[in-house]
Amino acid sequence: MGRTIFLLISVVLVAYYIYIPLPDDIEEPWKIILGNTLLKLGGDLASFGELLGINHFMDTLQFFLRFQDVPPTSDENVTVMETDFNSVPVRIYIPKRKSTTLRRGLFFIHGGGWCLGSAAYFMYDTLSRQTAHRLDAVVVSTEYGLAPKYHFPKQFEDVYRSLRWFLQEDILEKYGVDPRRVGVSGDSAGGNLAAAVTQQILQDPDVKIKLKVQALIYPALQALDMNVPSQQENSQYPLLTRSLLIRFWSEYFITDRDLEKAMLLNQHVPVEFSHLLQFVNWSSLLPQRYKKGYFYKTPPPGSSELAQKYPGFTDVKACPLLANDSILHHLPMTYIITCQYDVLRDDGLMYVKRLQNTGVHVTHHHIEDGFHGALTLPGLKITYRMQNQYLSWLHKNL
Ligand SMILES: *[C@@H]1O[C@H](CO)[C@@H](O)[C@H](O)[C@H]1NC(C)=O
Ligand SMILES: *[C@@H]1O[C@H](CO)[C@@H](O)[C@H](O)[C@H]1NC(C)=O
Ligand SMILES: *[C@@H]1O[C@H](CO)[C@@H](O)[C@H](O)[C@H]1NC(C)=O
Repeated sequence: MGRTIFLLISVVLVAYYIYIPLPDDIEEPWKIILGNTLLKLGGDLASFGELLGINHFMDTLQFFLRFQDVPPTSDENVTVMETDFNSVPVRIYIPKRKSTTLRRGLFFIHGGGWCLGSAAYFMYDTLSRQTAHRLDAVVVSTEYGLAPKYHFPKQFEDVYRSLRWFLQEDILEKYGVDPRRVGVSGDSAGGNLAAAVTQQILQDPDVKIKLKVQALIYPALQALDMNVPSQQENSQYPLLTRSLLIRFWSEYFITDRDLEKAMLLNQHVPVEFSHLLQFVNWSSLLPQRYKKGYFYKTPPPGSSELAQKYPGFTDVKACPLLANDSILHHLPMTYIITCQYDVLRDDGLMYVKRLQNTGVHVTHHHIEDGFHGALTLPGLKITYRMQNQYLSWLHKNL
């Protein structure tokens, strides 16, 4: 009897950790299931630690994830070093091959929901090396303060300070970078920060050097409507569920959980900010094929108190989709990747549409069998495919 119960519990537990709903057309599902199982285990341990009051959920996850950190080691093709840009730590990747001309410069911002991630993660270090080597570019991969220790606008401001430092003539010269060929790139929360700093730098009278391109890899761009079709359709897909996305967003602004609760109900935008909803209105901004079966409902108004306490979610520095057309109109050439099976799909799609509407040159790659995080996972076929597309776009346009 005891053994049967034990066996039953084991089967249920294994099934719980292995089971995820996956779309049929996803390649190499077992690799994704394995990754997702590890994430689920880590997430449950982190939740348990939080329940017992031992450690904040995000701190536990970051602790596990940092086992993949690699030191800044140079290899046969690329010199890697660490330094500070305006007191923000950065990793710099410089190709070793001789160059008679100035190089491209790419300022890269890692993802991780404003709570996790580092330029030192194996996957980001590898991507930056590849980028430097294949594009013959100087890559600056920046760090920034993370939640729960720091909240908005710290993340934004760290990245902005670091980028401003890089965009000085003497600094670019020091690293052999052509001031006419500097771009910004980032994935997920890093794509959010990339879009936000690109908008701000345009309006900064002290910055004389202009960005040539921005590349946004499945970026998060708005926190006003948490019920866009992709958040309903893909709410349970790896590697980012809707509830984790909302936890990340709310942690970006504040550690107490009131905002998260209101966001889960999509009832957090008070009436006095309802004019901002036009900028994230998926009913008018999404192409027909992504709206199928969903009916637009204006999010019900939230309490004014929330927005007073955590004004971040109505700030364009946190939600680049809230910029008006007269700002968007000046943006540099833009590359956006969206994935079909991603809660953030519609953020990217709406930005594509809004940029196109104001005449910005946009290249949009929609990955039909893509999911969140696919560009940086080690050893997947889809990763190579997406990285190749991304790097060849940069090669051509930066
Ligand atoms: C260095 O570049 C060569 C040629 O592209 C490549 O075959 C080799 O794998 C690279 N080495 C590293 C460590 O990436
Ligand atoms: C959203 O767009 C639809 C039509 O595309 C319009 O009927 C609706 O009033 C808009 N709502 C908001 C809040 O902008
Ligand atoms: C657009 O936004 C900028 C900066 O937020 C503001 O200065 C400007 O007045 C706005 N323009 C319009 C037409 O609303």
